[in-house]
This record gives sequence, structure tokens and C-alpha cells, in this order.
Amino acid sequence: MKTLEIASSRPYKVLIGSDLLAEVGTQIKKIGEHEKIAVICDDVTAALFGARLKESLEKSGAVACFFSFPNGETSKNITTLQQIYSFLLREEITRSDLIIALGGGVVGDITGFAAATYLRGIDYVQIPTTLISQTDSSVGGKTAVNLPEGKNLCGCFHSPRLVICDTGLLKESFLIREGIAEVIKCALLADPELFSMLENGEVATSLDEIVTRAIAIKGKIVAADEWDVGERQLLNLGHTLGHGVEKCSNFTVPHGIAVAIGMSMILSACVANGLLDESVLKRLHLLYKRFDLPSTYDGATLEEIIRVAFSDKKRFGGDINLIVCSDIGACSIKKMPISQLDAFVRRGWSGR
Ligand SMILES: NC(=O)c1ccc[n+]([C@@H]2O[C@H](COP(=O)([O-])OP(=O)(O)OC[C@H]3O[C@@H](n4cnc5c(N)ncnc54)[C@H](O)[C@@H]3O)[C@@H](O)[C@H]2O)c1
Ligand SMILES: [Zn+2]
Repeated sequence: MKTLEIASSRPYKVLIGSDLLAEVGTQIKKIGEHEKIAVICDDVTAALFGARLKESLEKSGAVACFFSFPNGETSKNITTLQQIYSFLLREEITRSDLIIALGGGVVGDITGFAAATYLRGIDYVQIPTTLISQTDSSVGGKTAVNLPEGKNLCGCFHSPRLVICDTGLLKESFLIREGIAEVIKCALLADPELFSMLENGEVATSLDEIVTRAIAIKGKIVAADEWDVGERQLLNLGHTLGHGVEKCSNFTVPHGIAVAIGMSMILSACVANGLLDESVLKRLHLLYKRFDLPSTYDGATLEEIIRVAFSDKKRFGGDINLIVCSDIGACSIKKMPISQLDAFVRRGWSGR
């Protein structure tokens, strides 16, 4: 088992290993005595992992109760949140008890928000079960629900007390492809060795190492900028244009795939604008082939993607912070006047 420490204002550990579900009961005891444990999951994670988690918790003497909701992004809303509150009240969960999120980013985000707000805040533990949630959403303390007007519009920061990443659970997941773009992003931001591992290694057999490295990078960045006012913007590499692609596709292109396209667009622009050597872009595209990731999106024109991606920012005029890449492991925040943005991105697009 590998252990990382996230040095936020309320530090917490991330445990990574391939058979940790069986150990959850024991690990949770180490963070304190909790009379009752309320587990929130979706119908898929309940069916796949609920019984094993229950057994592990009961073995260590805990009393556990379970609530599950229909899987998928559409459940990450205020109605489900209300149902979670009602469940916690029905089960008489108090502030000395504990909540566990067992699932992907949807379960993690809504459970984190419920934990942040129920009785003005109660401890929770993340047990992420997808690659996206293990390497991204479970670490950093961002919690949220969606509103009819848009994604993640209602939320807050609330760090978990512990994150338990059982990489063995990913074997039951078909979602590696959708999560790997965020791992590639971490490698581009800060870890050339991770990039080489992805190029040459067998992902299925080195999941522990890959997940640990990706979390270490995210953990370091969020610890330096917990409240997302500076350096944390680096995590947006490929995301602004990626969001443009997501929106233009009416969210039929999943987030991870859209981020892959966004990163390819921004790295192409970096090459065309003399910031990055072309060999890096070639390596990125070869890596995409390995993971069957697209580097372009043909469902919209560049104008449309840019318009949608920067629509809110453009309204305010002035400068925009673009995350640019000058080498694998070397990215930075580049302040750029909005007026120059189109030309910057377009140079890369026309050369693709
Ligand atoms: N808080 C953050 O910092 C942050 C960061 C990135 C993403 N997110 C959020 O995370 C969400 C996306 O996360 P996600 O991709 O994990 O989505 P998800 O939770 O919807 O999971 C995707 C699907 O996989 C299923 N699933 C979960 N674990 C499985 C397993 N082991 N095997 C098989 N199926 C499994 C789920 O039931 C669901 O149907 C979005 O809502 C996004 O906004 C949050
Ligand atoms: Zn993302």
C-alpha cells in the first residue's frame, strides 16, 4: 500500500493499493471512533462493492447503513441531495458519526457537499471507484451539485478525512479511457516519468504507480492553492477548450475525452506559437493512439468552440489565464489579452 499526505489546511491521507476495500473498517478506525457510518453510493457501486464494504465495516465493529441513488450525472442534483439529508436524519446520523462516499465523481461530489452542509458539517471519507474519481475528484476538497442552469454551480470546499483508492476496483470498470486524459494532464504538468510510463508500460499492471503519481501531482498543487485562486489553475490545462467541445457536443463527448481534445488543441497552439517543440506534440498524439483518444473534434468549427469556451470571459474583456506547455513536465499560466486569444489558438488549428 502507498500513502500520500495532502497538506491542506486540514491534512488528510490518501491510501492507494489493489485490495483496500477489505481493509476499510480497520483504516477508518485509525481516524477516530465513529458510532455509525452512513455509506452513500449509486446503484452500480452498491451492487458491485456494497456487500464487501459492509462486511469490512462490520468486521471492525462499526454499524453501517447504506443509501444508493440511480447512477449518472443527472442524479447530481438538489433532489438527490435532499434525499441524502432525509436518509441521514432517518438514520439519526450525528456530527460524531461518519459518512462514506463509495463511487465515482458523482457520488464523491454530492456526498462531499452533503457532508459539508449536513448539521453544519460532518466528517466524510472518499472511496473512489473510477479512474477519474481516484486521480482527480476525490482529492482537493471540491464538492458540488449541478443546477438546472449548469454543472457544479452549487458547492463548497470540504476536505475528506481520508481517501481510500482501491485500484483493484478499477478492474471492474470500463472507464479507464475516460479517466486517462486527466492522468496524461498530470504527466504534462509535472511528471515526465509518468508520461514515459504511459507511453511504454502496461497500464493495467501499473495502476498503483500511475494513480499514486497522478494524485501526488494534484495533491501538491491543491495544497499550494487550496481555495483555487492561483496555481490551482494549472489543473485547467486543456479544460477551457475542452469545455467548449463538451458544450458544442451537447455533452455527448464525455469530459475526459473533451479534455484530451482540449489539450491537443492547446499544445498544437503552443507549437505553432513557438513555445513548444513539435516532438512533444507527436508524442502526445502517439499516446492518444494507445488509449484510443481523439485529438480533434469535427462536430463544430474552431470559431464555435472558441466562442463557447470563452463566452463568459469575453464578456468581461481584458486578460485571460491560459495554461501553456513548454515541455513535458513544464506548464505555466500565461496571461493573454482576450483579443490575442483567437489568433493564438487558430495558428495551431490551421497547422494540424
Ligand atoms: N470535485 C472535483 O474536483 C472533480 C474533479 C473532476 C470531476 N469531478 C466530477 O466527477 C464526475 C465524473 O466522475 P466519474 O467519471 O467518476 O462519474 P460517475 O460517478 O458518474 O461514474 C461513471 C459511471 O461509472 C459507474 N461506476 C463507478 N465505479 C465503477 C466501477 N468500478 N466499475 C464499473 N462502473 C463504475 C458509475 O455508476 C457511473 O455510471 C462529474 O460530475 C465531475 O463534475 C469532480
Ligand atoms: Zn477535468
